[in-house]
Amino acid sequence: MTKPHPFEHSLFLLLAISLTPAYHGVEIIGGRKAKARSNPYMVSIQIFTDNNMYEHSFGCALISKNWVLTAAHCKPAMQAKRKSQVVLGAHSLSQDKKSKKTVPIIKWIDYGKFNKKIGVGDIILLKLGRNVKFNKDVKVLKLPKTKVTDVKPGTSCSVAGWGKTSTCSKNHSDTLQEVKLKVIDRKTCNSKDYYNHDPEVTQDMICVGDSEGREDSCQGDSGGPLICNKKYIGIVSYGKGCANPKKPGIYTLLTKEYLDWINKTIKTQAYNVTAEALY
Ligand code: ARG
Repeated sequence: MTKPHPFEHSLFLLLAISLTPAYHGVEIIGGRKAKARSNPYMVSIQIFTDNNMYEHSFGCALISKNWVLTAAHCKPAMQAKRKSQVVLGAHSLSQDKKSKKTVPIIKWIDYGKFNKKIGVGDIILLKLGRNVKFNKDVKVLKLPKTKVTDVKPGTSCSVAGWGKTSTCSKNHSDTLQEVKLKVIDRKTCNSKDYYNHDPEVTQDMICVGDSEGREDSCQGDSGGPLICNKKYIGIVSYGKGCANPKKPGIYTLLTKEYLDWINKTIKTQAYNVTAEALY
């Protein structure tokens, strides 16, 4: 056996480092494990797969005892597989915990203006098959009461999810991850170096990212809530790749129009159920 030339060692080391995802800053990406119970409103949407099991597919937030709010682009995958459910009160998706509750999804209510091509209207309500019981691990994320005026660029926000922790990984994360990001102004986000109006970041969307491209939401985080100044501000919607500093995450902004629609839909539906129950 010949001894490797010392230079070969360093070449190997260089190769190993460059292949490690963390080196590219693509590790939610760059986040940390969320503290247990710090996000009791976080819900995992799971779809029944060809492997005969439910798999985490999207995130969403519990907004009442039987409604969750998520992204409209999650709907086709749920519809295609017919069976989908939500898991509440989870931290690790694989570990059994008393607090973990599984509830079927029985209805999708679309805002109705989702356009996949241009990304607008990425918001949908899912009705749960039964009312959930609130406890330390399962709580509602309150919708902002007043009109959400735009959030200022530079505002610090956080996102949590079970999405991919690296752009190259195929799998989602087993434990809930959380990351802190900053609001980027729309003008910058639409500029040539960034999205260059493809898609156009409109008034009902918000760009949030990390200027160094180390942290981001990613596939599997879609539908999850964006929290800024302790308020529910938006929904994980889109991003070209993940953790690309010039292609930050684009989130659906919870505008007055969306909030009015959510409140009205939930009210009307509650009335319908009562009416159905009467006859
Ligand atoms: N569309 C993705 C999903 O379905 C989430 C995209 C977020 N991407 C980003 N770079 N922030 O899970």
